[in-house]
Amino acid sequence: MAKLEILTYPDSRLRQVAKPVTEFNDSLRILSENMAETMYAAPGIGLAAVQVDVPLRLVVMDLSEEKDQLKVLVNPEIIHQEGTVCMQEGCLSVPEIYADVERAEKVTLRAQDINGKAFEIEADELLAVCIQHEIDHLNGKVFVDYLSRMKRDRIRKKLLKETRLAVA
Ligand code: NI
Repeated sequence: MAKLEILTYPDSRLRQVAKPVTEFNDSLRILSENMAETMYAAPGIGLAAVQVDVPLRLVVMDLSEEKDQLKVLVNPEIIHQEGTVCMQEGCLSVPEIYADVERAEKVTLRAQDINGKAFEIEADELLAVCIQHEIDHLNGKVFVDYLSRMKRDRIRKKLLKETRLAVA
C-alpha cells in the first residue's frame, strides 16, 4: 500500500467532476486501499478519489472509534433525502478549517461495493453529513463553497500562504 498526496484547497483539480467507475478490477482495489491508508494516516473520516487527483466516483469512509469499519463507496448517489441539519465540518483538503454547513438530515444512499455489488444505506447524523460531503467532492465541490464569499476568501488566502511557506 502507499500513501497518496491529498490536494489542498484552492487547488483547481478539486473542481474535477469524477466519472463513474465501470471496471471493478485490481487497480480499483489498489486505489481504494491506498486511499484508505491515506485517510487513516491523515487522520480523517472520509476521502474522495478527486482529493487524490483521481477523477473517479470512489469514496472511502470510516466513522468508527476503532477505525475498523471501512466503507468503500463506488458510484455513490443519494436517492432520497429529508430534513435539514447544521453540523461543523472539516476536510482533509482544507486543513485546520472548520465551519458550520447545512445539509439534509437523513439520506438514502445507493452505491456499489468494490466488487460492483449494489447496496443501499439509510443514514442520519454524522454519516449522512459525511456522505453528502464526499459526494460533493465527486462533483467538484468543497464544503467552503457553502460559506460566504468573505469567509471563503479568508480561507483561500490563509491556505495559499501556508502552501507557499511549505514550499519555501
Ligand atoms: Ni472533504
